[in-house]
Amino acid sequence: MQQPLVIAIDGPAGAGKSTLGALLAERLGYLYFDTGVMYRALTLVALQGGVDLDAPEAVEDLAERIVIEVAPPTEPDGRQYTIFADGADVTWAIRSPEVERGVSVVARYPGVRREMVRQQQVIGHRGRVVMVGRDIGTVVMPDAPLKIYLEASLDERARRRATERQQQRDMRPLDEVRFDLARRDEMDGHVLRPADDAVVLKNDGLSPEAEIDWIIDYIARNDSA
Ligand code: DC
Repeated sequence: MQQPLVIAIDGPAGAGKSTLGALLAERLGYLYFDTGVMYRALTLVALQGGVDLDAPEAVEDLAERIVIEVAPPTEPDGRQYTIFADGADVTWAIRSPEVERGVSVVARYPGVRREMVRQQQVIGHRGRVVMVGRDIGTVVMPDAPLKIYLEASLDERARRRATERQQQRDMRPLDEVRFDLARRDEMDGHVLRPADDAVVLKNDGLSPEAEIDWIIDYIARNDSA
């Protein structure tokens, strides 16, 4: 396999997609594009504007008007990128518990998905990009030459998520994090499945570095095949 111009990484919440995606993009000199930020930015702007998240038409209408941009980091505060929604920096705000609670509902609306997918495809088609999400390999970039579907057990994902949150001073108990993840799995289930030609990687106990080495090796092995 020649170095693939688009690498799709999908899988459930907490499977390590963003860690892997960011590292892989850095290693290859590609753009790292975490597509979940688009659904999150839309949810945040809807909440700020008093849009009822349970009203599909209002949310879908907003999805067509909102301008979401993903830019390189503009502040040295540990961010992997800067997200602008209608010109405002919402990089950290999209991680709030309110957005976390509302985003799965927003991401289920067909009109929202249509618009988000369309915008993601514009970026994907430019190439040299690692795209992370739920439906990249199946819907957004079905022709991506390399599709990775990451899996990890619920316990492992909860442990990782809790540690990640502690670094952001969010001390929620592990049980609660685990419960939230299980609920997200259920809510995201409508789009969560590996593409037929995806490489499924179960990464319990595997470090991100080991995972990257495996993928780079996989690309090289398939090149000579
Ligand atoms: O990956 P994340 O937690 O930031 O995703 C936020 C929400 O957006 C989550 O409910 C799943 C949804 N999502 C999606 O439906 N399709 C994508 N390509 C990316 C995220």
